[in-house]
Amino acid sequence: MEIFILKIILIINIFIRPINLQLLINVKNQGGDVMQENITANVSEDTVTLDFLRLDGVYVSQLVDFTNEVEAMKVIIPSEEELGQSGYQILCFLTHAAQADFIAPDAMAKLRQKNPGTVRVAEEDKGWRQTTVTAWAGRATILLSPAAAKHCAPAYDKVYLRSADLTRWAPRPGVEQSYTSEVTPFPAHALSFDTSDGNPTISVCMAEKDASKDCICHLEVCVNWYPCGLKYCKGKPQGGLSYRCGIKTCHRCYRYHFYVRRRDACLNYM
Ligand SMILES: *[C@@H]1O[C@H](CO)[C@@H](O)[C@H](O)[C@H]1NC(C)=O
Ligand SMILES: *[C@@H]1O[C@H](CO)[C@@H](O)[C@H](O)[C@H]1NC(C)=O
Repeated sequence: MEIFILKIILIINIFIRPINLQLLINVKNQGGDVMQENITANVSEDTVTLDFLRLDGVYVSQLVDFTNEVEAMKVIIPSEEELGQSGYQILCFLTHAAQADFIAPDAMAKLRQKNPGTVRVAEEDKGWRQTTVTAWAGRATILLSPAAAKHCAPAYDKVYLRSADLTRWAPRPGVEQSYTSEVTPFPAHALSFDTSDGNPTISVCMAEKDASKDCICHLEVCVNWYPCGLKYCKGKPQGGLSYRCGIKTCHRCYRYHFYVRRRDACLNYM
């Protein structure tokens, strides 16, 4: 019995070393627009990179470093000329990579598209992931993941992480110092919460009237389609044993909250 026809097939070849792979996928976003995603697996580095250009001109590039369990979300935001801003703002958010969400680079490198022109829609909606970063990552970035450091280099000092994640990352071989001494926490008043209502004591930028005041900015990014797991089929080819026969695909949105020293540094992405 034909179970289903896979739009994406997974070729498993244990005799050929997986090569690096680039997939260009046409994806329908939630507004119904079609955009192209570029997914690259680097097997020797054990990383996967997914990037796309949003219709509003924002470029998003997500790197997952599997060996080091680091995810680096880089966002490049063009400034609005009407507001007298010029150039781009580049931000990078480092988080602990939740296991088993993205499929690993060696499996990713074996993916082939049967119909490259097809417009794809993710099967499962993973909803929103909220991340409130608490520190500038500084030199911890290179200690945690050389691949993430390279990925985030254009963001300079706008590389952020959650201090709580630092304890989840295992000590790296040959790295004596703790990551904690390498990061710069946000000022204390930006990290404290009002005991009465649980809200941060500092304003969110959207509510801050004074452009020169510091505040908590936020940024939203949706990844409309990514391979989030392997599918197993039972069947004839392997005599009833289950075998990897395809991929599961997901959609996930991210909301990052971060500190800015001046409200006017919180750009048009509020
Ligand atoms: C896809 O990403 C890879 C790696 O970042 C890059 O070399 C390639 O030029 C990209 N392709 C397209 C069509 O954007
Ligand atoms: C894969 O990663 C290695 C190590 O960082 C790098 O030298 C190589 O250029 C990368 N390959 C591709 C195709 O990006």
